[in-house]
Amino acid sequence: MAGTYDDRDGKIWLDGKLVEWREANVHILTHALHYASSVFEGERAYNGKIFKSVEHSERLLKSGELLDMPIPYTVEEIEKAKYDALAANGFTDAYVRVVAWRGAGADMGVASSKNPVRMAVACWEWGAYYGDAKMKGAKLDIAKWKRPSPETIPTAAKAAGLYMICTMSKHAAEAKGCSDALFFDYRGYVAEATGANVFFVKDGEVHTPIPDAILNGITRQTVIQMLKDKGITVHERHIMPEELAGFEQCWLTGTAAEITPVGQIGDYTFEVGDITRDVAESYEAMVRA
Ligand SMILES: Cc1ncc(COP(=O)(O)O)c(C=O)c1O
Repeated sequence: MAGTYDDRDGKIWLDGKLVEWREANVHILTHALHYASSVFEGERAYNGKIFKSVEHSERLLKSGELLDMPIPYTVEEIEKAKYDALAANGFTDAYVRVVAWRGAGADMGVASSKNPVRMAVACWEWGAYYGDAKMKGAKLDIAKWKRPSPETIPTAAKAAGLYMICTMSKHAAEAKGCSDALFFDYRGYVAEATGANVFFVKDGEVHTPIPDAILNGITRQTVIQMLKDKGITVHERHIMPEELAGFEQCWLTGTAAEITPVGQIGDYTFEVGDITRDVAESYEAMVRA
């Protein structure tokens, strides 16, 4: 494989057909490129099975609805597209990226209802998202940007426009030698990282932000249920930044991040402790079950 992402061997599912990887292109006047009319999913296949695949397909359709951009496929059709893309590339363990967007068409202003909603599925082999941070604990910067209010933008959508401040915050974090950045939200509460949710441990109990202005990650929901099944108390609540000083352990959850321990956020440090290790091991077993 190797090469840049637009210069690889393989196939990409595009608008109902498997096309050569290098030919999966769009026109420069694609609406999404100018106005962020794009939603996507990030998924992982383990041993030939996409973890929580249907949940991801459902969220994609929901994100499209939230952006007034109905996606012209059913959950079943999206499921087939994902598995066809995996099979065409011969992958059993891979990251799966589904993206739907307003293409080029009769509209080139802000309105886009005359333009087709298109969809593509690409998959590639992708290891640990945070590299060796997965073992020793990631170092996080604190983002200067804030996660916006749901009255400003549909925060429940996995929409491209929400990632503009993620990219800028991740660039700033990497320039400081950090793996990622933690956001606070528009009210000042602890929110999420640029592509993952956050969990904390104190006195054997787990605390995580309420998803009222952040993405309610599918991994987040899986881990909350897993913790409850283990008899561990989970507090979903608003968390103030000053509370970071009192937490003992911290980890991130996400499809790409899986369970990544956090060793440091700004000046606050955390141990890679027993609950973190247990959750990481249980998650690893669950996705491959
Ligand atoms: C901003 C943001 N928060 C949280 C998550 C975690 O979501 P999930 O567990 O559904 O992958 C992601 C990853 O998609 C994300 O991009």
